[in-house]
Amino acid sequence: MMTTIVGQTIQRTDAVSKVTGRAAYPGDLDMDGQLWMKVRFSDRVHARIVSIDTSRAEAYPGVVAVFTARDVPNNEYGLIIFDQPVLCGPGSNKPGADIVRCMADHVALVVAETEQAAAAARDLIQIDYEDLPIVTDAEAAMDDGAPQLHAASPNNILCHYRIRKGDMQAGWAQAAVVVEGTYTTSWQEHAYLQPEAGLSYIDEEGRVTVVVGGQWVHEDQEQVAHALGLERDQVRIIYPAIGGAFGGREDMSVQIILALAAMKLRRPVKIIWSREESIRGHHKRHPVKIYARWGATREGKVVAAEAQVIGDGGAYAYTTTKVMGNANLMVTGPYCIPNIHIDTYGVYTNNIPAGAFRGFGGPQGAFAAEGQMTKLAQALGMDPVEIRARNVLHEGDLLSVGTPLPKGVSIPEVVAKCAAESGYWEQTPDGWKRKPLAQPADPSKRRGVGFACGFKNVGFSFGAPEQNTATIELYGKAEIERVVVRQGGAEVGQGAHTVFLQMAAEAVGVPIERVELITQDTAQTSNSGSASASRMTFMAGNAIRGAAERALEAWRNEERPAIATYQYRPPKTTPYDPQTGRSEPNFAYGYVAQAVEVEVDLETGHVHVIRVVSANDVGRAVNPQLVQGQVEGAVVQAQGYAIMEHLVSVNGVIQNPYLSTYLIPTVLDVPHEVKALILEYADPIGPWGARGMAEMPFLTIAPAIAAAVHDATGVWIDSIPMTPDRVVRHLQAHHVAV
Ligand code: MOS
Repeated sequence: MMTTIVGQTIQRTDAVSKVTGRAAYPGDLDMDGQLWMKVRFSDRVHARIVSIDTSRAEAYPGVVAVFTARDVPNNEYGLIIFDQPVLCGPGSNKPGADIVRCMADHVALVVAETEQAAAAARDLIQIDYEDLPIVTDAEAAMDDGAPQLHAASPNNILCHYRIRKGDMQAGWAQAAVVVEGTYTTSWQEHAYLQPEAGLSYIDEEGRVTVVVGGQWVHEDQEQVAHALGLERDQVRIIYPAIGGAFGGREDMSVQIILALAAMKLRRPVKIIWSREESIRGHHKRHPVKIYARWGATREGKVVAAEAQVIGDGGAYAYTTTKVMGNANLMVTGPYCIPNIHIDTYGVYTNNIPAGAFRGFGGPQGAFAAEGQMTKLAQALGMDPVEIRARNVLHEGDLLSVGTPLPKGVSIPEVVAKCAAESGYWEQTPDGWKRKPLAQPADPSKRRGVGFACGFKNVGFSFGAPEQNTATIELYGKAEIERVVVRQGGAEVGQGAHTVFLQMAAEAVGVPIERVELITQDTAQTSNSGSASASRMTFMAGNAIRGAAERALEAWRNEERPAIATYQYRPPKTTPYDPQTGRSEPNFAYGYVAQAVEVEVDLETGHVHVIRVVSANDVGRAVNPQLVQGQVEGAVVQAQGYAIMEHLVSVNGVIQNPYLSTYLIPTVLDVPHEVKALILEYADPIGPWGARGMAEMPFLTIAPAIAAAVHDATGVWIDSIPMTPDRVVRHLQAHHVAV
């Protein structure tokens, strides 16, 4: 009877429409009388725009309008800080808007009867620049005398977080071994299937409406309204099918510029970015440089950890303050360490902006933390699983920020399950021990195994307002014949909408066929918060459950239809103390451990990922197949991050803005096997015990691969991506050759 729908693999509601090509993505939509837009991006990395001559563009046949900075009512936007002009150029009402700070900046918009005319006219715009000095290295940007990007951030330091826990001197005094390392990570491109696209028009109620792909309709609405000087309810955002997001659609891309044109012209306006425009036009994962020094006792107990973390935020804030906040928390791993000293910086440079990407600072932190942990194990002659088992956080242990994790801590169990079920380890009376690994007959190839573990917050952190609101409507007479769920959460490919329907059916107690979902439209749904931070199942589930309980009560009171809206608010979190870092950073976490087997080609430097075992505590798998899909997707995406994806930027200019030269994994690269161990240690406040899980399988793949490469070759590579040329250089430097 009850509890039959949550926990079942049912087919995704969008499966058939997506595999048959019937699903309409933003670029598939057309309206009668629509115009086309093209963006003139900045031609310079850092420059003052002296003048813009649009006359030749305006005279081009078919051109309807050309917009520049002077046409934007309130020429600023940004998720955290309004630090980016919608259009850069003179004549704007915002100081500093005449400066371009990176190649992603927009200078002008051309709207024409055809896409071709808009493109041709875009190239006829004459822009007179006065070059400014550039800085494209985050450490150099912090120097006195470096070019300054934003007046509000001296030395280009957008954020600085400190952790001061315990007594470092006492910690180092207890350490029998100390390991030091410098870890560098690079940009990562989201590479979602559909580049940015959208259609804007004035709807029947006079609202400036934007149909677009994003992660949070209400945030897009707020950003558009702010920049256009409109009230929020004068703007409507609708998401049709979204071609992936991964954090890359958190910030604005085409939303504001489409709305601006539709508002001014009162005609539908459409845009589709090319892949090149997409790679140039949206933020990337933060390149981070981490210096780390950890010490442990002879028994393998980590007693001191010190780190400096510098993230290249690029030219605008985007979500840098949040991403680096998370990196600051994750850089000491899921471990109980008594003495910690960390300084983390988010820094402006003239590079392309950096922002959200699956894991949100966690992967960078984990790359350093897990590298340090495995190196400590080696220095002590200890097994890498054993040392982790001796240091992982247990319930009640204090995080680096001086407070315990929320209840439901499962990392000890997750590490043990992963090690045992991977087949690479066995538990002996003396602790965890590696089993022998078969080596290929070909002496130019060597295999190795690596292990890493981590934790990922669920939901917005550090005091950010957090809520999700759902409405449930029950229709019928004697029995509930139809259930309507209003839940705005974005379906970015993760299966959220299917899970919403499952949770609503479960909460109301009806077969799923009776449930309909209204979603992704600011005019028809309440604020759900973002499809990010692994939060949507957790947050929407609690909101749906609360709304269902109240709607059922109304139903029992004979209301027809019975309708209830419920806002779920999780336990509050608090920001970092500026001096010590003390905080209650998050209200829930998921826990992960991964074992990776690789084969390294000593001649070519190729790293082949053979097998991945991913143990994830998801609390409750609402739809097990979707969980497995998230694990497999995250593993392959992280594999690309670790060994293939190399965005080359020279003096602020991306050299390979194409998927032909920026290489992501294809079917030929994926591991032979990804074994997903779905563990269900219930979160005490998760809906049906569910935790979030979209990001955690990403976090620990890169460090596990690095450890596996070391296991195979004896060489540590602390810089990702571990591209073949970089691997060969490291092997040669250590005289590991065939
Ligand atoms: Mo995500 S990186 O939390 O959109």
